[in-house]
Amino acid sequence: MATEDQSGNGGGVASATDTLTVTDNRTGQTYEVPIEDGTIRAMALRDVKVSDDDFGLMTYDPAFMNTASCRSSITYLDGDNGVLEYRGYPIEQLAEQSTYIEVAYLLIHGELPNQKQLDEWCHQITVHTFVHENVKTFIQGFRYDAHPMGMLLATVGALSTFYPDANRIMDEDVRYMNLIRLIAKMPTLAAFSYRHSMGQPYVYPDNELSYPANFLSMLFKMSESRYEPDPRLERALDILFILHADHEQNCSTSAVRAVGSSQVDPYSAVAAGVAALYGPLHGGANEAVLRMLRRIGTADNVPDFIAGVKEGKERLMGFGHRVYKNYDPRAKIIKAAADDVFEVTGTNPLLDIATELEKIALEDDYFVKRKLYPNVDFYSGLIYEALGMPVQMFPVLFAIPRTSGWIAQWLEMIQDKEQKIARPRQIYTGERSRDYVAMDARA
Ligand code: ACO
Repeated sequence: MATEDQSGNGGGVASATDTLTVTDNRTGQTYEVPIEDGTIRAMALRDVKVSDDDFGLMTYDPAFMNTASCRSSITYLDGDNGVLEYRGYPIEQLAEQSTYIEVAYLLIHGELPNQKQLDEWCHQITVHTFVHENVKTFIQGFRYDAHPMGMLLATVGALSTFYPDANRIMDEDVRYMNLIRLIAKMPTLAAFSYRHSMGQPYVYPDNELSYPANFLSMLFKMSESRYEPDPRLERALDILFILHADHEQNCSTSAVRAVGSSQVDPYSAVAAGVAALYGPLHGGANEAVLRMLRRIGTADNVPDFIAGVKEGKERLMGFGHRVYKNYDPRAKIIKAAADDVFEVTGTNPLLDIATELEKIALEDDYFVKRKLYPNVDFYSGLIYEALGMPVQMFPVLFAIPRTSGWIAQWLEMIQDKEQKIARPRQIYTGERSRDYVAMDARA
């Protein structure tokens, strides 16, 4: 990418104005780097050297604060303006008019299905909801107090052993079969994990029910011959599933892509996503929000709590986002869905605390300056609790719908000719070339 070489190491063609001119003050040499889609290729900097045997310049970007790792046509996110679109369709319209199962189709296939395609898709997913009986035995091996997310993580990874051909990821038919299985079986694994933690018998899928209704049935059915949830709760859960289905290159999706880039089977790649989602800064945040609200106790304690946050004693969970520097559009939709749920279940007293927290934080300079707004997790926990879910199930409820997003991203990644096994560089800061010290000579 030296001045005379417009194409550069990073490839791509740029017009004379779509370039970045960089002068290396160590050598006085000037380079012209092509700008494509608002980015420069990190590899283009490799040409910037002080000598022939120099490795070349690298970029340093811990936590990927300013690095695009892929091209993607799945989810569009504009954090400054609070915009979220799946395949170009605004999240608000999908939440209002679509279903999760249709959104899963959209994410994976790129287009909304026609009726025939949707019926076939629903049928395929419905007939694959059952899991091998040994999966039950596997879950029974966990301790009575095992976290359902830990159980989900292990069992989804274990599914790769039940479908050994899943590692044939370049075979389109095999790939398709396994992505159907993943979307179909996640609710079953999640519900079995929950029933295990409650010490209750597992409930088999009911293929006459919708995707969210079947999940509620597997969670809550006892001796009745058919569990039929209130349609308002079923719809609220479906909306939550839609909102959580994808969110471009977040921590868990990046984990799925990175692990999947080794060409491992999709069950193992999705297990990596579940593991990433387990953390309190990601999918565990709504669990942390509920614990925080309980700790605050009453709306009167909110000012003291906020003061503590501003002093850096703790974070206001459910606030802030790496990408959204405006109101998370999902949080707005969830707030509306919460009203529908509370109409059925009665209001949650923690809602008053949450509303007060939001009001105070949105007016406070500390939060305003840092552009900290409620994120998707601020209200979702309150709905989950109203639906009768214990807090440990919250990240599990996130993982179920995110599976379709993970798979869509995984499919895109493995078919992207530019992708290779993920392998970042490092700046080495340790010792070099030391002689081994015998034990009796050590301090
Ligand atoms: N409460 C108080 N202060 C906060 C919060 C918060 N929730 N979030 C960020 N800040 C402050 C930081 O202390 C920092 O202040 P400083 O500049 O004075 O040091 C500034 O805002 C920037 O914060 P970063 O940590 O640099 O922002 P980052 O983009 O790395 O973090 C994150 C994003 C992890 C989501 C963060 O806002 C956070 O921890 N939020 C609480 C946890 C949460 O709700 N996570 C769910 C995210 S949504 C999801 O995963 C589905």
